[in-house]
Amino acid sequence: MKRGDCIALLTSGGDAPGMNAALRAAGKVAHALGSRVLGVLDGYAGLMDGRLEPIDLRLLDEAGRRGGTILGTARSKTFMTPEGRQRARDQLAKHDVKGLIVIGGNGSLTGARTLLDADLAIAGLPASIDNDLACTSMAIGVDTAMNTIVDACDRVLDTAAAHRRTFLVEVMGRDCGYLAMTSAVAAGADAVLVPEIGQPMEAIVDQIVRAMERAYADGSGRRRALVVKAEGVQFDNAALMKAVQERIVRSHHDVDTRVTVLGHVVRGGAPTAFDRLLAARLANAAVRALLDGETDFMAGWCGPGVVGAPTKYDPYVVLSPLDVVLRETKRLMNGESEVAKWRKRIVQEIESILSE
Ligand code: F6P
Repeated sequence: MKRGDCIALLTSGGDAPGMNAALRAAGKVAHALGSRVLGVLDGYAGLMDGRLEPIDLRLLDEAGRRGGTILGTARSKTFMTPEGRQRARDQLAKHDVKGLIVIGGNGSLTGARTLLDADLAIAGLPASIDNDLACTSMAIGVDTAMNTIVDACDRVLDTAAAHRRTFLVEVMGRDCGYLAMTSAVAAGADAVLVPEIGQPMEAIVDQIVRAMERAYADGSGRRRALVVKAEGVQFDNAALMKAVQERIVRSHHDVDTRVTVLGHVVRGGAPTAFDRLLAARLANAAVRALLDGETDFMAGWCGPGVVGAPTKYDPYVVLSPLDVVLRETKRLMNGESEVAKWRKRIVQEIESILSE
């Protein structure tokens, strides 16, 4: 595509705080560079139905500091069929869209790639609180989610200490333990449980009991313990804590346990300054690259595992081909990539340090 061509923006999959900030930046930069900008309502579902509208830049200004996505989002099964994709292509051609920016996670970028053709340039922006995408050190939304979790843990710890309790706090992340791991460190938890370790239930019970025994040891002065569990660890919380309680009561008869599942609370809320800026900088580079004739890429934030030269638009932003992003994401999630190995090693290394 070239300067002056029309760009459409689409948010897809689970929303992430900062999606609106990405829309704001993409809309404003594209407009400033002479493009007509359309917003696609409700992700790929809206695209197939032809729900594309001119973006109101004043609305975006206001929305940029809020969570969710003003365009709406959806997970569409129909879009993954050949008929669904054809309908989407027809709508893009009908609206004379030459460049599409998809803001979302793994599934959303997989979908974006299927629309590629000679008449349509595609760019992806990583947005998912799970941080389960490769070729970017941070996805849009992760920092806000982490801050929300840490804030919730701080609150839980106040009441935990008052009652001499141990709390199991479950956090989102789908199959990825990144959010649990980073927020456990930031919140000062005593233990963290992530799916990447793949422990059986008995080993997890042992781990929690060990952490509790250290927390409540004579002379420790501690009145509480915190265990952060990623939702991807698929043991029933009540059963887990019942088994823990049965064990701990033998040495500490006055200690009891509670479970708090944070759920979708973690996904909402105003994006942090970091997420707003990350979103803006990735979007800025993506728009400029599209208008310079690039296609089939994701704009990622530099850091471990992100190879490739920084863009000329921003020294922190690296463009990676979408097929590389999807391949590396698979390796991240099946534990093969260096980043995946590092994450796993860190969790193992901090196990005894957390409850020190
Ligand atoms: O991928 C983002 C995410 O919030 C995951 O952490 C979670 O497992 C999933 O989406 C929840 O999806 P839904 O909102 O459809 O219940």
